[in-house]
Amino acid sequence: MYESLKGKHFLTCEDWNKTQLDIVFERALELKQKFYNEIPHLHLPYKTLFMMFFEQSTRTRNSMEAGMTQLGGHAHDLTADKMQLSHGESAKDTAVILSRMGHGIACRNCFYGIGSDYLSTMAKHSSKPVMSLQDDIYHPFQGLADLMTIFEHFDRNTKGLKVTISWAYADTHSKPLSVPQTQILLFPRYGIDVTVAHPKEFPLSKNIVEKAYKNAEVGSGSINFTENMDEAFEGANIVIPKNWGGFGYYDIDEYLRNETDCKKEMKTNLEKYHNWICDERKIKLADKHVKLMHALPADRGHEVTDEIIDDENISIVYDEAENRLHTAKAIMSLTM
Ligand code: CP
Repeated sequence: MYESLKGKHFLTCEDWNKTQLDIVFERALELKQKFYNEIPHLHLPYKTLFMMFFEQSTRTRNSMEAGMTQLGGHAHDLTADKMQLSHGESAKDTAVILSRMGHGIACRNCFYGIGSDYLSTMAKHSSKPVMSLQDDIYHPFQGLADLMTIFEHFDRNTKGLKVTISWAYADTHSKPLSVPQTQILLFPRYGIDVTVAHPKEFPLSKNIVEKAYKNAEVGSGSINFTENMDEAFEGANIVIPKNWGGFGYYDIDEYLRNETDCKKEMKTNLEKYHNWICDERKIKLADKHVKLMHALPADRGHEVTDEIIDDENISIVYDEAENRLHTAKAIMSLTM
């Protein structure tokens, strides 16, 4: 099984079955122990990973680059402006060439209606594994770190765990749909009962929601939707208050044709929902041992109050962020 993962792309957890994902979690836990105990774990000596970022990143960039160093290899930190992509070089040519020079390609491209297709094109033409560092649909590394953190805090008892993923107000930027979409697809595969709350103008993509229902059926989890944040918090074991843009409100072609108008309407819709914040009152509706998760960066004071995100009895966001390193290393060491 381990050998069969070598060369496998990691564009979405959907392409990895549970046996394969369980190998990843096992490797991530093993590498975490070795990291803590300073035991060398040079799975990728002299190997090269090319990382291409079309957007900013703190956790993803540094978990991959530090991860490659710790595995004995090296990561090139590339951005579109440093490459001939900025002069229109194609995804195909870029993928063919980088894959001839190194051992893996990782890319973040979150442009709505573009990112996931871009990564799939790279994967089609690369002779080495291509990893998604987040696109407009999926953020698979985030999903792995989230689930690993849940395993650690709930002794791997995920069956029947009530996880609430709630849209929250933020005024930073229109965040992609990829984090909540990855979570609703992945968590129910492990028997988790997911509740999603969002205002009507901020839905997730219809086809992803349909897939999530199917995953829940197979994984004996469940998925429910509400437009009431309070209701979603009631009795939750884990709450994930997180902003996402209103992209799912539009058909992709409609969005790409009228991007300026859609963005303007999204901003107007956003301003109606300042009260969608995770604060002390909402936390009190949840289970008394509730945990707060967030992929970060958090929009403090908008998505969640400082009081809640800094409460060490509630917040596990730093464990979640740290697990980005261990899960990144697991995927790289197994596929490259
Ligand atoms: N959660 C996450 O992907 O963080 P970065 O955008 O900092 O990589």
